[in-house]
Amino acid sequence: MARWHIWFLALFLVPAAHVFVAPYTKVEESFTLHAAHDVLRYGLSPANWHKWDHRTFPGAVPRSFLPPIVLGLLSYPIAALASAAGLVTTSLGIQTIVRLVLVVCFASAFTHLARTLQRRYSTSTADWFVVLTLAQFHIPFYAGRTLPNFTALPLVVLAFSLLLRDRLWTGIALLTATATVIRLEVALLAIPIALALVIQRRLSFLSALSAGLVGGFGSLTISAVIDYKLWSPTLPHSSLPDFTPRHTLWPELAAAYWNIAYGHADDWGIMPRSYYAKALTKMLAGAAPLLGLGIIWAFVLGVTGKRGHVFDNETLRRTVAGVARTLGPGVVALMLVLSTVGHKEWRFIVYAIPVFNIIAAACAAALLVLPSRSFRMMVRLGLTVLLAITVAFSIFSTYVSTHNYPGGCIWRTLEAARLPAGSVIHFHSYPLQTGSSLFTFVRTNATSSAFPAPQEVQWVYSKSEDPVLQTPQGAWLADIEAVVTDRWREYAESEIDGHKMWSILGGCDGYDGVQIGKGGLEVRTSPKIGLLRRL
Ligand SMILES: *[C@@H]1O[C@H](CO)[C@@H](O)[C@H](O)[C@H]1NC(C)=O
Repeated sequence: MARWHIWFLALFLVPAAHVFVAPYTKVEESFTLHAAHDVLRYGLSPANWHKWDHRTFPGAVPRSFLPPIVLGLLSYPIAALASAAGLVTTSLGIQTIVRLVLVVCFASAFTHLARTLQRRYSTSTADWFVVLTLAQFHIPFYAGRTLPNFTALPLVVLAFSLLLRDRLWTGIALLTATATVIRLEVALLAIPIALALVIQRRLSFLSALSAGLVGGFGSLTISAVIDYKLWSPTLPHSSLPDFTPRHTLWPELAAAYWNIAYGHADDWGIMPRSYYAKALTKMLAGAAPLLGLGIIWAFVLGVTGKRGHVFDNETLRRTVAGVARTLGPGVVALMLVLSTVGHKEWRFIVYAIPVFNIIAAACAAALLVLPSRSFRMMVRLGLTVLLAITVAFSIFSTYVSTHNYPGGCIWRTLEAARLPAGSVIHFHSYPLQTGSSLFTFVRTNATSSAFPAPQEVQWVYSKSEDPVLQTPQGAWLADIEAVVTDRWREYAESEIDGHKMWSILGGCDGYDGVQIGKGGLEVRTSPKIGLLRRL
Protein backbone atom coordinates (compact mmCIF):
# COMPACT_ATOMS: atom_id res chain seq x y z
CA MET A 1 0.00 0.00 0.00
CA ALA A 2 1.45 3.35 -0.99
CA ARG A 3 1.77 5.93 1.75
CA TRP A 4 -0.94 8.13 0.31
CA HIS A 5 -3.40 5.24 0.43
CA ILE A 6 -2.93 5.23 4.18
CA TRP A 7 -3.40 8.99 4.33
CA PHE A 8 -6.58 8.75 2.30
CA LEU A 9 -7.91 5.92 4.42
CA ALA A 10 -7.21 7.79 7.66
CA LEU A 11 -8.63 11.04 6.26
CA PHE A 12 -11.78 9.16 5.32
CA LEU A 13 -12.20 6.98 8.40
CA VAL A 14 -11.89 9.61 11.13
CA PRO A 15 -14.55 12.00 9.74
CA ALA A 16 -16.66 8.98 8.78
CA ALA A 17 -16.56 7.88 12.41
CA HIS A 18 -17.85 11.34 13.33
CA VAL A 19 -20.73 10.89 10.88
CA PHE A 20 -21.74 7.68 12.63
CA VAL A 21 -21.24 9.06 16.14
CA ALA A 22 -23.24 12.23 15.42
CA PRO A 23 -25.61 11.21 12.61
CA TYR A 24 -28.00 14.17 12.92
CA THR A 25 -27.67 17.65 11.49
CA LYS A 26 -28.40 21.27 12.37
CA VAL A 27 -30.33 23.96 10.58
CA GLU A 28 -27.17 25.45 9.02
CA GLU A 29 -26.72 22.21 7.11
CA SER A 30 -30.28 21.91 5.97
CA PHE A 31 -30.31 23.90 2.72
CA THR A 32 -27.63 21.72 1.14
CA LEU A 33 -28.86 18.56 2.83
CA HIS A 34 -32.47 19.06 1.77
CA ALA A 35 -31.56 20.06 -1.77
CA ALA A 36 -29.43 16.90 -2.04
CA HIS A 37 -32.42 15.02 -0.61
CA ASP A 38 -34.68 16.48 -3.28
CA VAL A 39 -32.24 15.52 -6.04
CA LEU A 40 -32.20 11.94 -4.75
CA ARG A 41 -35.94 11.81 -4.09
CA TYR A 42 -37.37 13.60 -7.12
CA GLY A 43 -34.51 13.66 -9.63
CA LEU A 44 -33.72 16.77 -11.68
CA SER A 45 -36.86 16.75 -13.82
CA PRO A 46 -38.57 20.18 -13.90
CA ALA A 47 -41.91 18.37 -13.57
CA ASN A 48 -41.05 17.67 -9.92
CA TRP A 49 -39.46 20.99 -8.99
CA HIS A 50 -42.58 22.09 -7.15
CA LYS A 51 -41.96 19.33 -4.61
CA TRP A 52 -38.54 20.64 -3.63
CA ASP A 53 -38.19 21.83 -0.05
CA HIS A 54 -37.03 25.38 -0.81
CA ARG A 55 -40.33 26.10 -2.55
CA THR A 56 -41.98 26.19 0.86
CA PHE A 57 -39.01 26.67 3.20
CA PRO A 58 -36.42 28.81 1.43
CA GLY A 59 -34.25 29.58 4.47
CA ALA A 60 -32.83 32.92 5.59
CA VAL A 61 -31.03 33.81 2.33
CA PRO A 62 -30.96 32.15 -1.11
CA ARG A 63 -27.95 29.92 -1.79
CA SER A 64 -26.66 28.21 -4.90
CA PHE A 65 -28.06 24.82 -5.86
CA LEU A 66 -24.91 23.81 -7.72
CA PRO A 67 -23.08 22.25 -4.71
CA PRO A 68 -26.08 20.24 -3.45
CA ILE A 69 -26.92 19.06 -6.97
CA VAL A 70 -23.35 17.84 -7.45
CA LEU A 71 -23.45 16.19 -4.01
CA GLY A 72 -26.80 14.58 -4.78
CA LEU A 73 -25.60 13.26 -8.14
CA LEU A 74 -22.41 11.86 -6.60
CA SER A 75 -24.46 10.17 -3.88
CA TYR A 76 -27.08 8.81 -6.26
CA PRO A 77 -25.35 5.60 -7.48
CA ILE A 78 -24.23 4.68 -3.97
CA ALA A 79 -27.65 5.39 -2.48
CA ALA A 80 -29.36 3.38 -5.22
CA LEU A 81 -26.98 0.44 -4.81
CA ALA A 82 -27.20 0.46 -1.01
CA SER A 83 -31.01 0.62 -1.18
CA ALA A 84 -31.26 -2.15 -3.76
CA ALA A 85 -28.87 -4.36 -1.81
CA GLY A 86 -30.80 -3.78 1.41
CA LEU A 87 -27.77 -2.22 3.12
CA VAL A 88 -29.90 0.72 4.22
CA THR A 89 -33.44 0.21 5.38
CA THR A 90 -34.50 3.76 6.27
CA SER A 91 -34.10 7.13 4.63
CA LEU A 92 -31.81 8.12 7.51
CA GLY A 93 -29.28 5.70 6.05
CA ILE A 94 -29.36 7.77 2.84
CA GLN A 95 -28.54 10.90 4.87
CA THR A 96 -25.47 9.06 6.17
CA ILE A 97 -24.48 8.16 2.60
CA VAL A 98 -24.75 11.80 1.46
CA ARG A 99 -22.59 12.89 4.37
CA LEU A 100 -20.04 10.14 3.68
CA VAL A 101 -19.79 11.25 0.05
CA LEU A 102 -18.87 14.71 1.32
CA VAL A 103 -16.25 13.05 3.52
CA VAL A 104 -14.79 11.36 0.41
CA CYS A 105 -14.45 14.82 -1.22
CA PHE A 106 -12.74 16.06 1.92
CA ALA A 107 -10.36 13.08 2.11
CA SER A 108 -9.48 13.37 -1.59
CA ALA A 109 -8.60 17.06 -1.32
CA PHE A 110 -6.56 16.68 1.86
CA THR A 111 -4.73 13.65 0.41
CA HIS A 112 -3.91 15.74 -2.66
CA LEU A 113 -2.42 18.39 -0.38
CA ALA A 114 -0.48 15.81 1.65
CA ARG A 115 1.01 14.43 -1.58
CA THR A 116 2.01 17.95 -2.58
CA LEU A 117 3.76 18.38 0.78
CA GLN A 118 5.53 15.06 0.32
CA ARG A 119 6.76 15.96 -3.15
CA ARG A 120 7.77 19.53 -2.44
CA TYR A 121 8.93 19.33 1.16
CA SER A 122 9.22 16.06 3.03
CA THR A 123 7.33 12.87 3.70
CA SER A 124 7.40 13.46 7.44
CA THR A 125 5.86 16.92 6.99
CA ALA A 126 3.04 15.27 5.03
CA ASP A 127 2.63 12.59 7.72
CA TRP A 128 2.43 15.21 10.44
CA PHE A 129 0.00 17.29 8.42
CA VAL A 130 -2.39 14.35 8.25
CA VAL A 131 -1.90 13.45 11.91
CA LEU A 132 -2.48 17.01 13.18
CA THR A 133 -5.51 17.54 10.94
CA LEU A 134 -7.16 14.37 12.21
CA ALA A 135 -6.22 14.87 15.85
CA GLN A 136 -8.05 18.20 15.90
CA PHE A 137 -11.76 18.45 16.47
CA HIS A 138 -13.48 20.97 14.22
CA ILE A 139 -12.45 19.96 10.73
CA PRO A 140 -12.94 16.18 11.11
CA PHE A 141 -16.23 16.67 12.95
CA TYR A 142 -17.59 19.03 10.30
CA ALA A 143 -16.00 17.39 7.23
CA GLY A 144 -19.18 15.37 6.77
CA ARG A 145 -21.58 18.23 7.51
CA THR A 146 -23.26 19.92 4.57
CA LEU A 147 -22.58 23.51 5.64
CA PRO A 148 -21.60 25.67 2.66
CA ASN A 149 -18.23 26.31 4.36
CA PHE A 150 -17.56 22.59 4.34
CA THR A 151 -18.67 22.02 0.78
CA ALA A 152 -16.23 24.84 -0.04
CA LEU A 153 -13.36 23.48 2.09
CA PRO A 154 -12.36 20.54 -0.15
CA LEU A 155 -12.23 22.87 -3.17
CA VAL A 156 -10.22 25.48 -1.28
CA VAL A 157 -7.75 22.86 -0.05
CA LEU A 158 -7.43 21.43 -3.56
CA ALA A 159 -6.73 24.96 -4.80
CA PHE A 160 -4.06 25.43 -2.09
CA SER A 161 -2.47 22.17 -3.17
CA LEU A 162 -2.42 23.23 -6.84
CA LEU A 163 -0.93 26.60 -5.90
CA LEU A 164 1.86 24.91 -3.92
CA ARG A 165 2.52 22.75 -6.99
CA ASP A 166 2.91 25.99 -8.98
CA ARG A 167 -0.24 25.28 -10.96
CA LEU A 168 -1.06 28.89 -10.27
CA TRP A 169 -3.62 29.63 -12.95
CA THR A 170 -5.75 26.58 -12.11
CA GLY A 171 -5.44 27.27 -8.38
CA ILE A 172 -6.65 30.86 -8.74
CA ALA A 173 -9.47 29.85 -11.09
CA LEU A 174 -10.67 27.20 -8.64
CA LEU A 175 -10.56 29.60 -5.68
CA THR A 176 -12.51 32.20 -7.66
CA ALA A 177 -15.12 29.67 -8.70
CA THR A 178 -15.55 28.53 -5.09
CA ALA A 179 -15.91 32.13 -3.95
CA THR A 180 -18.44 32.89 -6.67
CA VAL A 181 -20.72 29.92 -6.16
CA ILE A 182 -20.29 28.64 -2.61
CA ARG A 183 -18.84 31.13 -0.12
CA LEU A 184 -18.05 34.68 -1.09
CA GLU A 185 -15.52 35.11 1.74
CA VAL A 186 -13.21 32.80 -0.23
CA ALA A 187 -12.62 35.88 -2.42
CA LEU A 188 -10.65 37.23 0.55
CA LEU A 189 -8.24 34.35 -0.11
CA ALA A 190 -8.36 34.44 -3.91
CA ILE A 191 -7.76 38.14 -4.54
CA PRO A 192 -4.77 38.71 -2.20
CA ILE A 193 -3.18 35.42 -3.28
CA ALA A 194 -3.52 36.36 -6.95
CA LEU A 195 -2.19 39.89 -6.33
CA ALA A 196 0.79 38.55 -4.36
CA LEU A 197 1.61 36.13 -7.17
CA VAL A 198 1.54 39.01 -9.65
CA ILE A 199 3.75 41.19 -7.40
CA GLN A 200 6.16 38.27 -6.95
CA ARG A 201 6.25 38.01 -10.75
CA ARG A 202 5.24 34.36 -10.63
CA LEU A 203 2.09 35.02 -12.61
CA SER A 204 1.46 37.75 -15.14
CA PHE A 205 -1.30 40.20 -14.43
CA LEU A 206 -3.17 39.03 -17.52
CA SER A 207 -3.00 35.36 -16.46
CA ALA A 208 -4.24 36.22 -12.98
CA LEU A 209 -7.06 38.24 -14.47
CA SER A 210 -8.01 35.52 -16.93
CA ALA A 211 -7.94 32.89 -14.16
CA GLY A 212 -10.28 35.04 -12.10
CA LEU A 213 -12.60 35.75 -15.01
CA VAL A 214 -12.73 32.16 -16.20
CA GLY A 215 -13.22 30.82 -12.65
CA GLY A 216 -15.78 33.46 -11.75
CA PHE A 217 -17.83 33.82 -14.90
CA GLY A 218 -17.33 30.19 -15.93
CA SER A 219 -18.84 28.89 -12.70
CA LEU A 220 -21.48 31.60 -12.66
CA THR A 221 -22.64 30.71 -16.18
CA ILE A 222 -23.48 27.22 -14.97
CA SER A 223 -24.83 28.12 -11.54
CA ALA A 224 -26.86 31.16 -12.63
CA VAL A 225 -28.98 29.10 -15.02
CA ILE A 226 -29.64 26.41 -12.42
CA ASP A 227 -30.24 28.83 -9.56
CA TYR A 228 -32.53 31.14 -11.50
CA LYS A 229 -34.66 28.24 -12.72
CA LEU A 230 -34.92 26.62 -9.30
CA TRP A 231 -35.33 29.79 -7.27
CA SER A 232 -37.50 32.09 -9.32
CA PRO A 233 -40.80 30.21 -8.85
CA THR A 234 -40.24 30.45 -5.07
CA LEU A 235 -40.07 34.25 -5.06
CA PRO A 236 -41.60 36.45 -3.83
CA HIS A 237 -41.75 34.54 -0.55
CA SER A 238 -42.71 35.83 2.88
CA SER A 239 -39.49 34.38 4.38
CA LEU A 240 -37.36 36.20 1.82
CA PRO A 241 -39.09 39.57 1.48
CA ASP A 242 -36.00 41.42 0.23
CA PHE A 243 -35.16 39.03 -2.60
CA THR A 244 -36.45 38.98 -6.16
CA PRO A 245 -35.80 36.31 -8.83
CA ARG A 246 -33.11 38.58 -10.32
CA HIS A 247 -31.09 38.21 -7.09
CA THR A 248 -30.95 34.46 -7.50
CA LEU A 249 -28.82 34.73 -10.64
CA TRP A 250 -25.95 35.12 -8.18
CA PRO A 251 -27.23 34.08 -4.74
CA GLU A 252 -23.88 34.48 -2.96
CA LEU A 253 -23.53 38.11 -3.98
CA ALA A 254 -27.15 38.89 -3.21
CA ALA A 255 -26.90 37.26 0.22
CA ALA A 256 -23.62 39.03 1.03
CA TYR A 257 -25.05 42.35 -0.08
CA TRP A 258 -28.15 41.76 2.01
CA ASN A 259 -26.08 40.79 5.06
CA ILE A 260 -23.61 43.66 4.80
CA ALA A 261 -25.43 46.54 3.14
CA TYR A 262 -28.65 46.05 5.08
CA GLY A 263 -26.66 45.39 8.26
CA HIS A 264 -28.27 41.98 8.69
CA ALA A 265 -24.91 40.34 9.47
CA ASP A 266 -25.14 41.80 12.96
CA ASP A 267 -28.58 40.23 13.49
CA TRP A 268 -26.73 36.97 14.03
CA GLY A 269 -24.77 38.43 16.95
CA ILE A 270 -21.74 40.65 17.47
CA MET A 271 -18.51 39.13 18.74
CA PRO A 272 -15.47 40.87 20.29
CA ARG A 273 -12.28 41.42 18.28
CA SER A 274 -10.47 38.67 20.15
CA TYR A 275 -12.99 36.10 18.90
CA TYR A 276 -10.87 34.74 16.05
CA ALA A 277 -7.71 34.46 18.16
CA LYS A 278 -9.59 32.28 20.63
CA ALA A 279 -11.31 30.29 17.90
CA LEU A 280 -7.98 29.62 16.18
CA THR A 281 -6.41 28.38 19.40
CA LYS A 282 -9.28 25.97 19.92
CA MET A 283 -9.25 24.74 16.33
CA LEU A 284 -5.49 24.28 16.26
CA ALA A 285 -5.21 22.85 19.80
CA GLY A 286 -1.81 21.14 20.09
CA ALA A 287 -0.72 22.46 16.71
CA ALA A 288 -0.82 26.06 18.01
CA PRO A 289 2.56 25.96 19.84
CA LEU A 290 4.11 24.13 16.88
CA LEU A 291 2.81 26.82 14.55
CA GLY A 292 4.26 29.58 16.72
CA LEU A 293 7.60 27.81 17.09
CA GLY A 294 7.75 26.98 13.38
CA ILE A 295 7.22 30.60 12.35
CA ILE A 296 9.76 31.96 14.85
CA TRP A 297 12.27 29.23 13.99
CA ALA A 298 12.05 29.83 10.24
CA PHE A 299 12.12 33.59 10.79
CA VAL A 300 15.30 33.44 12.92
CA LEU A 301 16.95 31.13 10.37
CA GLY A 302 16.02 33.58 7.65
CA VAL A 303 17.28 36.64 9.55
CA THR A 304 20.61 35.16 10.69
CA GLY A 305 21.23 33.71 7.24
CA LYS A 306 23.83 31.31 8.68
CA ARG A 307 23.57 27.87 7.11
CA GLY A 308 24.49 24.38 8.17
CA HIS A 309 24.47 24.75 11.97
CA VAL A 310 22.66 22.38 14.35
CA PHE A 311 19.34 24.20 14.23
CA ASP A 312 19.37 24.85 10.52
CA ASN A 313 16.92 22.85 8.46
CA GLU A 314 16.56 23.64 4.83
CA THR A 315 13.22 21.82 4.48
CA LEU A 316 11.68 23.82 7.29
CA ARG A 317 12.90 27.08 5.77
CA ARG A 318 11.54 26.14 2.37
CA THR A 319 8.19 24.99 3.73
CA VAL A 320 7.51 28.07 5.82
CA ALA A 321 8.76 30.42 3.12
CA GLY A 322 6.81 28.62 0.37
CA VAL A 323 3.57 28.53 2.30
CA ALA A 324 3.94 32.11 3.54
CA ARG A 325 4.75 33.43 0.07
CA THR A 326 2.00 31.58 -1.78
CA LEU A 327 -0.86 31.26 0.70
CA GLY A 328 0.12 33.70 3.48
CA PRO A 329 -1.35 36.84 1.87
CA GLY A 330 -4.74 35.14 1.55
CA VAL A 331 -4.84 33.80 5.09
CA VAL A 332 -3.77 37.13 6.60
CA ALA A 333 -6.30 39.09 4.52
CA LEU A 334 -9.11 36.66 5.35
CA MET A 335 -8.55 37.03 9.06
CA LEU A 336 -7.92 40.78 9.06
CA VAL A 337 -10.97 41.64 6.99
CA LEU A 338 -13.31 39.28 8.82
CA SER A 339 -12.10 40.65 12.18
CA THR A 340 -13.61 43.99 11.20
CA VAL A 341 -17.05 42.41 10.72
CA GLY A 342 -19.14 42.37 13.90
CA HIS A 343 -20.56 38.92 13.37
CA LYS A 344 -17.87 36.26 13.60
CA GLU A 345 -17.99 32.50 13.35
CA TRP A 346 -15.11 30.07 13.52
CA ARG A 347 -16.15 28.43 10.29
CA PHE A 348 -15.62 31.65 8.33
CA ILE A 349 -11.87 31.26 8.85
CA VAL A 350 -11.68 27.47 8.77
CA TYR A 351 -9.68 27.62 5.50
CA ALA A 352 -6.73 29.01 7.46
CA ILE A 353 -6.39 25.85 9.54
CA PRO A 354 -4.86 23.57 6.85
CA VAL A 355 -2.33 26.32 6.05
CA PHE A 356 -1.35 26.67 9.70
CA ASN A 357 -1.22 22.90 10.06
CA ILE A 358 1.34 22.69 7.24
CA ILE A 359 3.69 24.98 9.17
CA ALA A 360 3.05 23.16 12.45
CA ALA A 361 3.73 19.87 10.68
CA ALA A 362 6.98 21.15 9.19
CA CYS A 363 8.04 22.28 12.64
CA ALA A 364 7.28 18.88 14.20
CA ALA A 365 9.13 17.10 11.40
CA ALA A 366 12.18 19.34 11.79
CA LEU A 367 12.19 18.98 15.59
CA LEU A 368 12.31 15.20 15.30
CA VAL A 369 15.54 15.19 13.29
CA LEU A 370 17.52 17.52 15.54
CA PRO A 371 20.85 15.78 16.03
CA SER A 372 21.27 15.79 19.82
CA ARG A 373 20.04 12.59 21.44
CA SER A 374 18.71 13.97 24.69
CA PHE A 375 16.98 16.69 22.70
CA ARG A 376 15.25 14.13 20.58
CA MET A 377 13.87 12.35 23.62
CA MET A 378 12.44 15.62 24.88
CA VAL A 379 10.97 16.39 21.49
CA ARG A 380 9.30 13.00 21.30
CA LEU A 381 7.86 13.43 24.75
CA GLY A 382 6.69 16.97 23.95
CA LEU A 383 5.03 15.98 20.68
CA THR A 384 3.35 13.01 22.33
CA VAL A 385 1.93 15.25 25.04
CA LEU A 386 0.69 17.80 22.49
CA LEU A 387 -0.99 15.10 20.43
CA ALA A 388 -2.50 13.48 23.52
CA ILE A 389 -3.97 16.81 24.65
CA THR A 390 -5.35 17.48 21.18
CA VAL A 391 -6.94 14.04 20.88
CA ALA A 392 -8.37 14.21 24.41
CA PHE A 393 -9.90 17.62 23.65
CA SER A 394 -11.36 16.24 20.40
CA ILE A 395 -12.87 13.19 22.04
CA PHE A 396 -14.39 15.32 24.77
CA SER A 397 -15.75 17.87 22.27
CA THR A 398 -17.18 15.07 20.16
CA TYR A 399 -18.89 13.58 23.19
CA VAL A 400 -20.36 16.96 24.15
CA SER A 401 -21.44 17.66 20.56
CA THR A 402 -23.36 14.42 20.25
CA HIS A 403 -25.81 15.90 22.79
CA ASN A 404 -26.48 18.87 20.56
CA TYR A 405 -28.99 17.26 18.22
CA PRO A 406 -32.12 16.57 20.31
CA GLY A 407 -34.34 16.91 17.23
CA GLY A 408 -32.61 13.94 15.63
CA CYS A 409 -33.54 11.09 17.91
CA ILE A 410 -37.27 11.88 17.93
CA TRP A 411 -37.84 9.65 14.90
CA ARG A 412 -37.10 6.64 17.14
CA THR A 413 -39.70 7.82 19.67
CA LEU A 414 -42.14 8.12 16.78
CA GLU A 415 -41.34 4.62 15.56
CA ALA A 416 -42.07 3.27 19.03
CA ALA A 417 -45.41 5.12 19.11
CA ARG A 418 -46.88 2.99 16.31
CA LEU A 419 -49.26 5.67 15.07
CA PRO A 420 -51.88 4.55 12.55
CA ALA A 421 -51.31 4.98 8.82
CA GLY A 422 -52.03 8.46 7.52
CA SER A 423 -51.39 10.18 10.85
CA VAL A 424 -50.29 13.78 10.52
CA ILE A 425 -47.21 14.61 12.60
CA HIS A 426 -46.53 18.28 13.09
CA PHE A 427 -43.00 19.52 13.77
CA HIS A 428 -42.19 22.81 15.46
CA SER A 429 -39.18 24.80 14.40
CA TYR A 430 -36.85 23.82 17.27
CA PRO A 431 -36.75 20.08 16.47
CA LEU A 432 -36.34 20.97 12.78
CA GLN A 433 -33.35 23.12 13.68
CA THR A 434 -31.68 20.52 15.87
CA GLY A 435 -31.79 17.26 13.98
CA SER A 436 -35.13 16.47 12.35
CA SER A 437 -34.42 16.58 8.62
CA LEU A 438 -36.38 15.33 5.62
CA PHE A 439 -34.28 12.17 5.88
CA THR A 440 -35.52 11.49 9.42
CA PHE A 441 -39.10 11.45 8.06
CA VAL A 442 -38.76 7.72 7.53
CA ARG A 443 -42.39 6.96 6.70
CA THR A 444 -43.13 9.22 3.76
CA ASN A 445 -44.93 7.81 0.75
CA ALA A 446 -42.58 9.05 -1.99
CA THR A 447 -40.81 6.35 -3.95
CA SER A 448 -37.38 6.74 -5.49
CA SER A 449 -34.71 4.35 -6.65
CA ALA A 450 -32.23 6.19 -4.40
CA PHE A 451 -34.25 5.32 -1.30
CA PRO A 452 -35.29 2.08 0.37
CA ALA A 453 -38.83 0.95 -0.50
CA PRO A 454 -41.47 2.92 1.47
CA GLN A 455 -42.54 1.48 4.83
CA GLU A 456 -45.86 -0.30 5.00
CA VAL A 457 -47.39 2.21 7.42
CA GLN A 458 -46.95 5.76 6.17
CA TRP A 459 -47.39 9.09 7.89
CA VAL A 460 -47.75 12.67 6.79
CA TYR A 461 -45.09 15.03 8.10
CA SER A 462 -45.95 18.69 8.57
CA LYS A 463 -43.35 21.46 8.87
CA SER A 464 -45.97 24.12 8.28
CA GLU A 465 -45.31 27.53 9.82
CA ASP A 466 -49.02 28.39 9.77
CA PRO A 467 -49.59 30.19 13.12
CA VAL A 468 -52.85 28.30 13.67
CA LEU A 469 -50.95 25.01 13.90
CA GLN A 470 -48.46 26.33 16.47
CA THR A 471 -50.93 26.29 19.38
CA PRO A 472 -52.22 23.27 21.33
CA GLN A 473 -55.84 24.10 20.40
CA GLY A 474 -55.09 24.90 16.77
CA ALA A 475 -53.17 21.68 16.18
CA TRP A 476 -55.80 19.65 17.98
CA LEU A 477 -58.67 21.17 16.02
CA ALA A 478 -56.73 20.62 12.78
CA ASP A 479 -56.74 16.88 13.44
CA ILE A 480 -53.00 16.66 13.96
CA GLU A 481 -52.24 13.22 15.42
CA ALA A 482 -48.88 14.00 17.00
CA VAL A 483 -46.78 17.08 17.70
CA VAL A 484 -43.01 17.27 18.08
CA THR A 485 -42.13 20.37 20.05
CA ASP A 486 -39.92 22.07 22.62
CA ARG A 487 -43.11 23.44 24.25
CA TRP A 488 -44.40 20.04 25.30
CA ARG A 489 -45.16 21.16 28.87
CA GLU A 490 -47.62 23.75 27.60
CA TYR A 491 -49.21 21.13 25.32
CA ALA A 492 -49.52 18.54 28.06
CA GLU A 493 -51.29 21.02 30.34
CA SER A 494 -53.61 22.67 27.84
CA GLU A 495 -57.29 21.79 27.93
CA ILE A 496 -60.31 22.17 25.72
CA ASP A 497 -63.83 22.12 27.22
CA GLY A 498 -62.36 20.91 30.52
CA HIS A 499 -60.40 17.94 29.20
CA LYS A 500 -56.80 17.54 28.19
CA MET A 501 -55.88 17.51 24.51
CA TRP A 502 -52.40 16.05 24.42
CA SER A 503 -50.45 13.34 26.24
CA ILE A 504 -46.68 12.95 26.26
CA LEU A 505 -45.38 9.81 24.56
CA GLY A 506 -41.68 10.47 24.99
CA GLY A 507 -38.93 12.90 24.17
CA CYS A 508 -35.28 13.59 23.62
CA ASP A 509 -32.68 15.17 25.84
CA GLY A 510 -30.25 17.85 24.80
CA TYR A 511 -27.12 19.59 26.00
CA ASP A 512 -27.18 22.07 28.89
CA GLY A 513 -23.58 22.43 29.95
CA VAL A 514 -20.51 20.78 31.38
CA GLN A 515 -19.90 20.47 35.10
CA ILE A 516 -17.39 18.85 37.42
CA GLY A 517 -19.09 15.92 39.07
CA LYS A 518 -18.15 12.74 40.90
CA GLY A 519 -16.86 11.02 37.80
CA GLY A 520 -14.83 14.04 36.64
CA LEU A 521 -16.24 16.20 33.86
CA GLU A 522 -19.91 15.51 33.30
CA VAL A 523 -22.21 16.65 30.54
CA ARG A 524 -25.51 18.00 31.86
CA THR A 525 -28.58 17.33 29.74
CA SER A 526 -32.29 17.87 30.14
CA PRO A 527 -35.42 17.05 28.15
CA LYS A 528 -35.56 19.40 25.17
CA ILE A 529 -38.16 17.96 22.87
CA GLY A 530 -41.36 16.11 23.51
CA LEU A 531 -43.60 13.96 21.35
CA LEU A 532 -47.28 14.43 22.10
CA ARG A 533 -50.27 12.52 20.83
CA ARG A 534 -53.84 13.76 20.70
CA LEU A 535 -56.19 12.36 23.29
C1 LIG B 1 14.94 18.87 7.94
O1 LIG B 1 13.68 18.32 8.32
C2 LIG B 1 13.21 17.31 7.48
C3 LIG B 1 11.82 16.94 7.96
O2 LIG B 1 10.88 17.82 7.42
C4 LIG B 1 14.16 16.14 7.47
O3 LIG B 1 13.68 15.15 6.61
C5 LIG B 1 15.52 16.62 7.04
O4 LIG B 1 16.46 15.57 7.17
C6 LIG B 1 15.98 17.80 7.87
N1 LIG B 1 17.19 18.34 7.25
C7 LIG B 1 18.27 18.62 7.95
C8 LIG B 1 19.40 19.18 7.17
O5 LIG B 1 18.35 18.46 9.15
